[in-house]
Amino acid sequence: MAASRSLVLPAIDLPELGRGEVWLVGAGPGAPGLLTLEALNAIQQADVIVHDALIDPRVLALAKPTARFEAVGKRGGRPSADQDDISERLVVLARNGERVVRLKGGDPFVFGRGGEEVLTLAQNDVAFRVLPGLTAGLAGLTAFSIPATMRGLNQAIILATGHLGAEGGLDWPALARTGQPLVIYMAVRTIAPITEALRAGGLAPETATAIISAATTPAASILVSTLAEIADAAEAAAVAAPALLVVGSIVSFRDTLDQLATTLQTEADA
Ligand SMILES: C[S@@+](CC[C@H](N)C(=O)[O-])C[C@H]1O[C@@H](n2cnc3c(N)ncnc32)[C@H](O)[C@@H]1O
Repeated sequence: MAASRSLVLPAIDLPELGRGEVWLVGAGPGAPGLLTLEALNAIQQADVIVHDALIDPRVLALAKPTARFEAVGKRGGRPSADQDDISERLVVLARNGERVVRLKGGDPFVFGRGGEEVLTLAQNDVAFRVLPGLTAGLAGLTAFSIPATMRGLNQAIILATGHLGAEGGLDWPALARTGQPLVIYMAVRTIAPITEALRAGGLAPETATAIISAATTPAASILVSTLAEIADAAEAAAVAAPALLVVGSIVSFRDTLDQLATTLQTEADA
């Protein structure tokens, strides 16, 4: 008998998206299969989906046939809609009585400016809801068999932005001194200064470091190197956004796992 590909769901009560409401929905790191059921439920009810650049077209294809789409993507270095304009647009759509989904990559409240958008909605008396999504910084690790925490390796994990701004960004040497792994979003153009600052904070040049690109999408890749060499390796590999810079011993867990998996495979072949 041919295997069924249909998804059979138990009866779960999922909320109804009302007219004039805006739901901020986390779409996860990319793969449509990593949407939550709540996100799917929201997407299928929306009259209008206001979405980021990173949303996979297969996710948008889950909308009802009459749904309209407004792309407001922010991509580093390219022109994008102004944040205030996006928030105001959500208010206008809600006031027009539309069922609005504001679809964001990952989790709306992790480096997603979701907080600013709900503040504008609240200030304008627009009913809203925020649906969590898998954030790329954690799902991207797991997708590449890197544990975010591992007993004996780390007791914390630091999620940071790689935007340096006029002030040079975070106190990288202080973060280095915590000895805890770092997962740095939006760091493609700042790998060199960040890794130098982490070394200045005392991290060893041979600290395991990786760049995870387009995790969970068909273009997913990982580049593993050391803190001292990752900037050159990234340049040579022409690494592009979306990508995460991951620094710390959790990266080496992958090698340990690979060796064991190879051993198992060799034993199975014997
Ligand atoms: C504006 S932030 C949005 C983060 C999002 N709200 C989240 O929770 O994942 C965009 C950054 O997230 C990271 N990112 C998003 N999707 C990714 C993916 N599939 N693989 C690797 N990094 C990703 C990249 O660092 C990218 O520059």
